[in-house]
Amino acid sequence: MALLRSLAVAAPLLVASHAQAPTFAGGTPTGSSPFARPTDLNAIPVSANASGAGGPLLQSFVSYSIEFAFFPDYAGNASYPNLFSNNLLESISAFSGTKPYIRVGGNTQDYALYDASLSVATNGTYIPSISKDYPLILSIGPSFFESYSTWPNTKFIHGFNLAKNTTDDRVKLLDTVPLVCKALGGGKLLYWELGNEPDLYKTSAQGRVRPPTWTESDYVSEWIDVTGKIGVSMAKSCTNMTRSYAYQYIAPSFAGTNNSLKPLTTWKDNLNAANYIALFSSHNYIGGATQPGVTLQGTLMNHASTVASVSKQIDTANALAQAGMTIPYILGETNSLYNEGAPGLSNAFGAALWGVDFNLYCAATGIKRVHMHQGTNYRYASWQPVDTPTTTKGTKPPFYGNIAVAAALGDLTVDKVQVEHLPLPDNTEAAYAIYANNSLARVMVINMAEYNYSAATVDSRPDVTYNFTVPTSCAGVGVVQRLIANGSDAITGVTFNGRSYNYELDLGKPRLLGNVTKDDITWVGEDGIFAVKVPYSSAALVQLSC
Ligand SMILES: *[C@@H]1O[C@H](CO)[C@@H](O)[C@H](O)[C@H]1NC(C)=O
Ligand SMILES: *[C@@H]1O[C@H](CO)[C@@H](O)[C@H](O)[C@H]1NC(C)=O
Ligand SMILES: *[C@@H]1O[C@H](CO)[C@@H](O)[C@H](O)[C@H]1NC(C)=O
Ligand SMILES: *[C@@H]1O[C@H](CO)[C@@H](O)[C@H](O)[C@H]1NC(C)=O
Ligand SMILES: *[C@@H]1O[C@H](CO)[C@@H](O)[C@H](O)[C@H]1NC(C)=O
Ligand SMILES: *[C@@H]1O[C@H](CO)[C@@H](O)[C@H](O)[C@H]1NC(C)=O
Ligand SMILES: *[C@@H]1O[C@H](CO)[C@@H](O)[C@H](O)[C@H]1NC(C)=O
Ligand SMILES: *[C@@H]1O[C@H](CO)[C@@H](O)[C@H](O)[C@H]1NC(C)=O
Ligand SMILES: *[C@@H]1O[C@H](CO)[C@@H](O)[C@H](O)[C@H]1NC(C)=O
Ligand SMILES: *[C@@H]1O[C@H](CO)[C@@H](O)[C@H](O)[C@H]1NC(C)=O
Ligand SMILES: *[C@@H]1O[C@H](CO)[C@@H](O)[C@H](O)[C@H]1NC(C)=O
Repeated sequence: MALLRSLAVAAPLLVASHAQAPTFAGGTPTGSSPFARPTDLNAIPVSANASGAGGPLLQSFVSYSIEFAFFPDYAGNASYPNLFSNNLLESISAFSGTKPYIRVGGNTQDYALYDASLSVATNGTYIPSISKDYPLILSIGPSFFESYSTWPNTKFIHGFNLAKNTTDDRVKLLDTVPLVCKALGGGKLLYWELGNEPDLYKTSAQGRVRPPTWTESDYVSEWIDVTGKIGVSMAKSCTNMTRSYAYQYIAPSFAGTNNSLKPLTTWKDNLNAANYIALFSSHNYIGGATQPGVTLQGTLMNHASTVASVSKQIDTANALAQAGMTIPYILGETNSLYNEGAPGLSNAFGAALWGVDFNLYCAATGIKRVHMHQGTNYRYASWQPVDTPTTTKGTKPPFYGNIAVAAALGDLTVDKVQVEHLPLPDNTEAAYAIYANNSLARVMVINMAEYNYSAATVDSRPDVTYNFTVPTSCAGVGVVQRLIANGSDAITGVTFNGRSYNYELDLGKPRLLGNVTKDDITWVGEDGIFAVKVPYSSAALVQLSC
């Protein structure tokens, strides 16, 4: 450490003579010293402790939600497990300490009906006039539940159907209980869920399933009635899973914070009367895929738009807390643009940068876990699990954003991790401080100024040098790990810290590329100041030793 500090002190002029700076250990020293300091640093102050940060995050903060009908594509089955998906989940686990938690749900959770005679996992019928993206008529067979066995050390939330409520449909629902509780034995169960986005049941564009007179208290009565019936059935087939510590749900899984059922009214109407609810789950989208005026720069690579969107959740969480709710608030389903994302936006590298800003902003404001929603052929998916006529099997840019978030947070099973939002002047940039056990561990800087590399005529990618003041105990070496691609419009060639997770290289396992920098060095001066150069449309994670 003494050696590294003296090197830091010996580098006082490097900022001023950046172009001539010698390289050291594969990186360019851009650090500083207590003397010869330029005066235009605008250094961003970073606290020594987490007193300004959001509360500690839950394990597996980086989690996924997988559209019910496509879960067999993502996970495979007992004969053909999807190893590619598993490799990607393992790559997140290498940072987080646990694999992402998988919620199996979404719109098709509320269409799915059990058919004991179906010889395949799913039989879906599309009605293209309503949605080209997922089946509106869906049966699942016994082999659907095999998909819960393919990924080792993975915990799941299984979504039960609440929308379909004829007597016959309810019988089919209860018929799945023994199958799914056995499939999720042996520690695979995280929680249950009943119903997807019931706040849209009486207004949904995909078909209304409740009358206009249906209220929060009607929903609460149904939810309590059906969770009770599921519990009675489960007590027969999987007795120990209905002990109070084990029989737990996420709810209410509303699409928004101000739709036709309101979260606060629902809670006050005593949704948690039976004390089954472990986490308050809400859904969030920044905008719509076909909404007029939606752009990469204006909608996704835009910190103000992320702040405005997440603020609705935070206001709701605060109102619930004031009403006495004490359970953690999570996003059980979220992504960039609803209706499965827009091509050229949600699948572009710019959306990966959005994902980093969005997830860290959630972490900084008290949202304890975020499940990014996935589906086969969905434009915003982190990965495509199988080849289809429209989409090639592969790792997509948003996955690299998920990896960068996991790297920023570190091992949530060892450290108490908290995130603080560091305000920056422009909406095209964002920065966060990450604390482990109340001590500064990392800083993430995201530059979201659009650099459209297809449109660039010369190689002229601008960059911004960000300066930070961290505690003097951090003096010495900082290690810079970059999330980068050729530009915000890139749909391939993305790396995090010099590694690719692409399917075609090593089935989604990390592969170090020789042609991208990794672990650059920046010097943290004795006065705690460091600089990091961030190209437009890229992010830099600075690992500190404080
Ligand atoms: C960081 O400091 C350098 C001087 O070393 C300055 O040129 C640059 O503008 C500063 N960055 C910001 C974002 O102000
Ligand atoms: C946390 O750091 C701030 C300065 O950033 C300081 O004012 C405060 O006293 C510290 N709190 C604790 C508990 O150390
Ligand atoms: C298991 O997956 C394979 C490959 O996708 C598929 O051909 C087979 O039909 C599936 N088995 C069942 C029982 O669904
Ligand atoms: C699949 O569902 C359609 C109706 O949506 C039905 O006509 C067809 O027979 C079903 N296939 C199987 C194998 O059950
Ligand atoms: C299904 O929901 C409708 C609308 O809320 C209600 O009128 C009907 O009684 C419900 N059916 C059953 C079997 O619960
Ligand atoms: C219930 O018992 C089964 C079989 O012993 C075990 O695999 C499972 O983990 C237990 N579940 C709970 C929630 O205790
Ligand atoms: C909720 O929506 C209603 C219109 O349906 C609107 O009047 C109200 O201002 C909204 N509340 C919030 C907090 O956005
Ligand atoms: C945080 O605290 C835990 C439990 O005391 C410990 O195991 C871990 O090493 C600590 N992490 C750091 C970065 O100090
Ligand atoms: C990037 O530039 C290309 C070529 O000009 C254009 O077709 C594309 O729409 C641009 N992408 C975005 C996201 O603006
Ligand atoms: C990225 O840019 C480099 C250098 O111009 C080029 O060789 C490479 O093919 C580009 N990669 C992608 C995925 O466009
Ligand atoms: C780096 O190497 C990979 C794999 O060989 C290649 O696909 C990619 O285009 C290269 N990237 C750049 C920026 O040249």
